[in-house]
Amino acid sequence: MASMSPDKQLLSSAPDSEDLGVEVSLRPRSFSEYIGQKRIVDKLGVFVEAALGRRESLDHVLLFGPPGLGKTTLAHIIAHEMETSIRTTSGPVLERAGDLAAILTNLQPGEVLFIDEIHRLGPTVEEILYPALEDYSLDLIIGQGPAARTMRIDLPPFTLVGATTRAGLITAPLRARFGIVHRLDFYQPKELSTIIRRSGQLLEISIDEAGADEIAGRSRGTPRVANRLLRRVRDYAQVHGSGTIDFESASSALKLLEVDEFGFDEVDRKILATLIDQYQGGPAGIQALAAAVGEDRGTLEDLYEPYLIQEGFLRRTPRGRIATRRAYDHLGIQPPSGVVGSLF
Ligand code: ADE
Repeated sequence: MASMSPDKQLLSSAPDSEDLGVEVSLRPRSFSEYIGQKRIVDKLGVFVEAALGRRESLDHVLLFGPPGLGKTTLAHIIAHEMETSIRTTSGPVLERAGDLAAILTNLQPGEVLFIDEIHRLGPTVEEILYPALEDYSLDLIIGQGPAARTMRIDLPPFTLVGATTRAGLITAPLRARFGIVHRLDFYQPKELSTIIRRSGQLLEISIDEAGADEIAGRSRGTPRVANRLLRRVRDYAQVHGSGTIDFESASSALKLLEVDEFGFDEVDRKILATLIDQYQGGPAGIQALAAAVGEDRGTLEDLYEPYLIQEGFLRRTPRGRIATRRAYDHLGIQPPSGVVGSLF
């Protein structure tokens, strides 16, 4: 039998090399162009306007949530709306305290500093950040041993935008220094459909509403996945159809691409099948589950679980992960009595 799985990268919320270039060109540049995440966009709009009115920099912002939902995009929009520029870096890149000190001392007044994967900052680097965030100062240690001294340097006011997929891994002292903390949620299908049509316009892809809805429903609530599926469906419509993406060409293309009705890929199905077949539906520890599925634990926790949980296929309990009735139904397996989720 042919494999029932789409190309693994097709549905991943992690960016591939093609996404990186296209995403920049599709990125909304202002709050008014941004679709979805209404709560945070409304809040940020007020805070930005107030900060501009006072001629102050915006409070530090921590954005968390699954990959591909727009954390980086929002950081760029914040800089644009604050009429300033943005410097971007990431937790793993900042290996030594000096790496961060060099960036901080080169900031222009009011600039935005974006640190992606901020949960991966090392402790010595993080410590440099505390006084920088709190009162725009840098405590440098000069020399070693008994002759060592600290020297305090003033920094220009700036706004840190931190992003993480793992809010639970942010230390309490770091988290406490952000005035604005917000979790990004998966998008509604209607929002994704609007994003797809906007992207279609920018990329000069002809697509109607039913075509966009069909792609949106299988995009795992994630704009990055939606925009990637749009590009692949375009290829299909160009070769097999009239060139316009409508319901027929979108659903035939998604069938060919083996994207199922929930946008699940091989790993999603393997997670659910493993829980059901090897653990009688669970509970199973995340480590054991990851090993059985052949992925690392972080990939499971960051990329796969959030959507499976949100859609009610998986539950996280203190004793481990369990498959719900919806998971059994999806795989066409009769659940034993007492399986949770009869309401789904
Ligand atoms: N492209 C990707 N995400 C988007 C969003 N939230 N709004 C508009 N265009 C987007």
